[in-house]
Amino acid sequence: MGFSHTQRPLAVVTGASGGIGAAVAGQLARRGVRTVLVARRTERLRELARELAPLAPSVVMSLDLADQDAIEPAMRDLLREHGPVDILIHAAGYGILREFLEQRPEDIHRLMQVHYFAAVQMIHAVLPGMVERRHGHIINIGSIAAKVGPWGHCGYSAAKAALQSLTHTLAAEYGDRGVHFSYVQPGIVNSAFFEGPGYRHLASNLRRHALSCDYVARRIVGLLDRPRLELVVPRHHRVVDWLKLLLPMVVHGTIARRSRPDTSTQQPAPPDWRPSESQVISPALTGSGSSQPKDRIA
Ligand SMILES: NC(=O)c1ccc[n+]([C@@H]2O[C@H](COP(=O)([O-])OP(=O)(O)OC[C@H]3O[C@@H](n4cnc5c(N)ncnc54)[C@H](OP(=O)(O)O)[C@@H]3O)[C@@H](O)[C@H]2O)c1
Repeated sequence: MGFSHTQRPLAVVTGASGGIGAAVAGQLARRGVRTVLVARRTERLRELARELAPLAPSVVMSLDLADQDAIEPAMRDLLREHGPVDILIHAAGYGILREFLEQRPEDIHRLMQVHYFAAVQMIHAVLPGMVERRHGHIINIGSIAAKVGPWGHCGYSAAKAALQSLTHTLAAEYGDRGVHFSYVQPGIVNSAFFEGPGYRHLASNLRRHALSCDYVARRIVGLLDRPRLELVVPRHHRVVDWLKLLLPMVVHGTIARRSRPDTSTQQPAPPDWRPSESQVISPALTGSGSSQPKDRIA
């Protein structure tokens, strides 16, 4: 599928097959932005592209961001076929909620690849064009986990912290050349994220206080009108920054205590749970309209 309105701005959204990324793609389409929808579940992306077609054209890019070697050629093809990218929103991601010794180094490496190195690779591809045209916006979706280091998130927190540092550094280096950089820190958002390894027992409790994907997506896309380096959603979560400055040890102790699972209610990991096995698309979950993620670590 190709674009027909080449005069429209071009956005690339990773994680567009569900949750925040899909909602972001919807918001962009309302603005008439052409969007490249990136994720692994091609059928989901196609469905979304069909839904958005009355608003704006989009194309599907099937890509596993854990596959380091696949990203550069995919981005090269994209730029050749569709021209320079105006907006890159990196929303793809997943978490693993396990103690450090229950995650293998390669699991942590994979988290770093999807959240951080994939962003590095994609930004490397699109930034030269943005700098040349003195125009562009790169938005990375982070997490409060980067700042507070909660229990069970050794890989996830580090990956998000790296993404935050990358965003800040890029803003320092290229922010005066017409390119905007933003790091978004959402609170708990109602998405399939909590179907991931280790989270299931928390999901219903967390979702009670969760923000909707649409609300978060509106705030993210609003950055295009009023660019800023950091966006915290909801706003009151910024209090964590102040508390960390004033009482760092108290904040650390509180987070460590409160994020530790209640072992009396925690479901044990399935006996064959292997976090770094390849993420498998389960046929049972590939039906349209399913709210479940289609591929999770088996
Ligand atoms: N939900 C929350 O409470 C929350 C809070 C703070 C931050 N965040 C962050 O927000 C972002 C979006 O999460 P979400 O809540 O929207 O979760 P989600 O509904 O599970 O969506 C995750 C998206 O990432 C994609 N993805 C995962 N692994 C991928 C890979 N290897 N290659 C390509 N795409 C991949 C998934 O697509 P495929 O499975 O089709 O590949 C899916 O589109 C993530 O970075 C997450 O860390 C979420």
